[in-house]
Amino acid sequence: MKTPPQSPPPPPPLLILLFLLLFTTTTTPSLSQPLPPTPAPTSPPSSKPSSPSTLDPKQVTALQSLNIPTSKDPCAQPSLHNATLCDSSKPFRHLISLRLSNCSSYVALSFTALKSLSTIQSLQLLNCPVAPIRFPPELIASLRSFTSVNSLSKVSGVWLSQLENLTDLTVSNAEVKATGPYVILSNMKKLRTLTISNANLTGSLPGHVHSNLTHIDFSGNHLKGSIPPSITMLDSLQSLILSSNALTGEIPASIGDLISLKNLSLASNSFSGSIPDSISAVPGLVHLDLSSNQLNGTIPSFISHMKSLKYLNLANNNLRGVMPFNASFISKLSVLNVGGNGNLCYNHSVVSLKLKLGISRCDKYGMPVSPPSKDSYADDSGDYDDGDDEDGSKQKKEHHHGPNKFVLGVAIALSSIVFLIVFLIVCSKCRR
Ligand SMILES: *[C@@H]1O[C@H](CO)[C@@H](O)[C@H](O)[C@H]1NC(C)=O
Ligand SMILES: *[C@@H]1O[C@H](CO)[C@@H](O)[C@H](O)[C@H]1NC(C)=O
Ligand SMILES: *[C@@H]1O[C@H](CO)[C@@H](O)[C@H](O)[C@H]1NC(C)=O
Ligand SMILES: *[C@@H]1O[C@H](CO)[C@@H](O)[C@H](O)[C@H]1NC(C)=O
Ligand SMILES: *[C@@H]1O[C@H](CO)[C@@H](O)[C@H](O)[C@H]1NC(C)=O
Ligand SMILES: *[C@@H]1O[C@H](CO)[C@@H](O)[C@H](O)[C@H]1NC(C)=O
Ligand SMILES: *[C@@H]1O[C@H](CO)[C@@H](O)[C@H](O)[C@H]1NC(C)=O
Ligand SMILES: *[C@@H]1O[C@H](CO)[C@@H](O)[C@H](O)[C@H]1NC(C)=O
Ligand SMILES: *[C@@H]1O[C@H](CO)[C@@H](O)[C@H](O)[C@H]1NC(C)=O
Repeated sequence: MKTPPQSPPPPPPLLILLFLLLFTTTTTPSLSQPLPPTPAPTSPPSSKPSSPSTLDPKQVTALQSLNIPTSKDPCAQPSLHNATLCDSSKPFRHLISLRLSNCSSYVALSFTALKSLSTIQSLQLLNCPVAPIRFPPELIASLRSFTSVNSLSKVSGVWLSQLENLTDLTVSNAEVKATGPYVILSNMKKLRTLTISNANLTGSLPGHVHSNLTHIDFSGNHLKGSIPPSITMLDSLQSLILSSNALTGEIPASIGDLISLKNLSLASNSFSGSIPDSISAVPGLVHLDLSSNQLNGTIPSFISHMKSLKYLNLANNNLRGVMPFNASFISKLSVLNVGGNGNLCYNHSVVSLKLKLGISRCDKYGMPVSPPSKDSYADDSGDYDDGDDEDGSKQKKEHHHGPNKFVLGVAIALSSIVFLIVFLIVCSKCRR
């Protein structure tokens, strides 16, 4: 007798959702206050017991056509999953923000529905597979923020470029077809934050960028060429993430002009030449990742004067000479990774021997005494131990060393078997 057809119990998430839906539909008409987790700041008398739905009926219909539950007033806050947000216009309120997340089925955002929803300023699609969208002009004029993460599967740069009024654009995990980012950006004069990541975007960084950008993230694409001056002229730029592309050339000295920069990642490209001293002129830099490039020369000692720095990753380059960091600088960092630089070494009278940096000790000429032991290369990481060093440094290890993986595997296998057995017993019991 082998496994008979079984009807497994409904998965818990489904139960919870069902319960939630039942709960909200039955409670909202009778209660005027739909259980706010945080009390609204000083406005109890003004919010009188409201009518069932304050949202424009046309928009209610449009939401229903998108399978968004409207049994609870979509304008009541907090809405289910915070999916909707309304303005306060009279007699009917209008939707200003819509977020679709973790959709269980393929969603078609119909032109008609979107036309009725053209008051939306923010549209977010998160883990929500959608058919290609055609935006009505009214929505294009209204839209300020558009996000698609794991949702649209393919978009063209020309299609994105029509969204001229955007201040925030995020497209991630979608194929973005364009001859270069300039196609998308040339008309978006108000843009402040821009993320086009894991999108197989080709071309080079744009030669002209509108000046109010605070965040640029082009990680995980196929961008080529070098960093143009247009980028280093962005006074407001706080975050520049260009990791995992095919960028080349030297890091321009003008990178030091990015006075607002907090986060710089140029990791996993083909940048060459040396690290410019000017990088230490960026006063508020917190996160600096230049790992996995072909940078050579020595590490500028000025880096150790960067007061805000917390994360420093220079691993897997061709850096050489004496690492210019002392124990007190290192102890201020939460992550330091310098491994994978064969000609880099540390001065053992300045840095504790116990720090596992993945580089070897310097001889008196500033050359590595020997290639670092196989051990320190083993996991391709130069993070050090947080053992009790005499200087009391407290660095974090990013990952632990290898042999534990086997133990973990065995543990997982064993616990799966136990779970399976328990599951089978329970199953056989409930069939009786
Ligand atoms: C809804 O938004 C509030 C405030 O932004 C947040 O605290 C809460 O966790 C959100 N709830 C859900 C389900 O996302
Ligand atoms: C969507 O799923 C992710 C991961 O499964 C979860 O973290 C998130 O809270 C979910 N969001 C909503 C609104 O249910
Ligand atoms: C952008 O918004 C302005 C008004 O805020 C409007 O006049 C203009 O037509 C909009 N642009 C597009 C492309 O819709
Ligand atoms: C990018 O291209 C690779 C290989 O061509 C493919 O496997 C991947 O799915 C593409 N990414 C997206 C987001 O389409
Ligand atoms: C950039 O920001 C400044 C100050 O916030 C503002 O005055 C200016 O109009 C903005 N420029 C653009 C092109 O949006
Ligand atoms: C900086 O960017 C990296 C890569 O995108 C991210 O992991 C990190 O959290 C960011 N750090 C800060 C301080 O914004
Ligand atoms: C560093 O790399 C650049 C460009 O690849 C090269 O011109 C230069 O000679 C190298 N410098 C050193 C010290 O190896
Ligand atoms: C460590 O280096 C920093 C900056 O380079 C310097 O200010 C400090 O005095 C040094 N500390 C020691 C103990 O040498
Ligand atoms: C190591 O540091 C000591 C003390 O600061 C110094 O005298 C020595 O020259 C340094 N060695 C190298 C190779 O830089």
